[in-house]
Amino acid sequence: MINVLVVGSGGREHALGWKLSSSPKVGIVYHAPGNGGTPNNVEIEVHEIEKLAKFASENNCLTVVGPEVPLAAGIVDEFAKKGLAIFGPTKAAAQLESSKVWAKNFMKRNGIPTARFEVFDDATKAKEYAKSVDYSLVVKADGLAAGKGVIVCNDKSEAISAIDKILVDKSFGASGARIILEERIDGVEASYIAISDGNVAYPMATSQDHKRIYDNDKGPNTGGMGAYSPTGVIDDTMAENIQKNVIEKTVLSMKKENILFCGFLYAGIMVKDGKPYVLEFNARMGDPECQPIMMRMDSDLLDYIQASIDGTLASLPNISWKRQSAVCVVLASKGYPDSYPKNEEILGLDASNKDSYVFHAGTRRVDGKVLTNGGRVLGVTATGDTLQSAIYNAYTRVEKIRWPSKYCRTDIGKKGLRSSVGSDL
Ligand SMILES: Nc1ncnc2c1ncn2[C@@H]1O[C@H](COP(=O)(O)OP(=O)(O)O)[C@@H](O)[C@H]1O
Ligand SMILES: [Mg+2]
Repeated sequence: MINVLVVGSGGREHALGWKLSSSPKVGIVYHAPGNGGTPNNVEIEVHEIEKLAKFASENNCLTVVGPEVPLAAGIVDEFAKKGLAIFGPTKAAAQLESSKVWAKNFMKRNGIPTARFEVFDDATKAKEYAKSVDYSLVVKADGLAAGKGVIVCNDKSEAISAIDKILVDKSFGASGARIILEERIDGVEASYIAISDGNVAYPMATSQDHKRIYDNDKGPNTGGMGAYSPTGVIDDTMAENIQKNVIEKTVLSMKKENILFCGFLYAGIMVKDGKPYVLEFNARMGDPECQPIMMRMDSDLLDYIQASIDGTLASLPNISWKRQSAVCVVLASKGYPDSYPKNEEILGLDASNKDSYVFHAGTRRVDGKVLTNGGRVLGVTATGDTLQSAIYNAYTRVEKIRWPSKYCRTDIGKKGLRSSVGSDL
């Protein structure tokens, strides 16, 4: 038996811990710092790498890292130096996410399909270029910006304001010291996530996120307001295409460049005219995609995590998935992604339902009460034999939960009803 330390406090981490705790090989699952729904919380923040390492060492833990910030800071390198088992990419491998410039250049030199782009650190030159191209642009800050560093522009004046915002006003600080001007691709977006040991990569189930705050994809971008799995946007042919031309090519090209990518490799994909384009890589699971994916996973996640660490993934069979659909509806506090109230008591959490599970994110537990403690508060996740029934089951559970500022989209998964059946992933 091995214990597990899950680093992070979101819905993604609750779902990873929930899935790992069902493994017969796992003893105690600890969460650092965790939230109001996670068991065995340890009061250590995600950036306190030394403290995390000490805890993992003293408690016989294999460590699983949820968010990007500690990965980009080199948590995996530090643990490895101490001989501690940890799942996730090294600092060098996490550059696929932590520097969009690095990732775009990597894709370009290795022939991985992505939109045309140029890199700038000079606002005047960037604006000249923006005026000279005859297609719409997306302006991206190079570094981590908590999902706020990308501006999708409708015309040249928007592109010029975006350039000013990042390079002149320095709205994203050092993360915006360089920018990418990239061709805007108007297609359908989906998430393709794999698990890799640096040599091979196995697909996780496909999924689709809902990034905008309001129904029908209106309003500002958020961390994600809901997701479902599998998605018809990625049918079997498209899944094969992405697996071969994006995922395997990335893992092998990284290896060729002497960087082993171990961990979850997430490709944000835009499908247009039957072709996939990589919008970005994340060096970790998606949140909320992780929640429905974990609910559909039949195989023991620990086996795949252990094999990723040991470099023995190729000896395992493909991951098996429930044929059911799963849907995660994010319940947020009104005002998110801007300011929102906190410390409101959440009621109706205990209504039991065999088809659903409520993953916590921005919550904390005080004197037996569960209080809101963040913008995205809960991820109500349900399965069903069809996408339609999974949606029904999720919203049935959503209705039972209440607090004064509760807000959610009412159309999570609806986009999936319009597309075809999708792949078996
Ligand atoms: N080239 C592009 N064409 C059209 N939309 C894009 C493009 N690149 C990014 N986007 C949109 O912007 C969102 C955020 O961009 P992304 O590269 O995923 O950065 P991040 O998640 O770090 O904010 C994407 O989910 C997508 O909706
Ligand atoms: Mg993204």
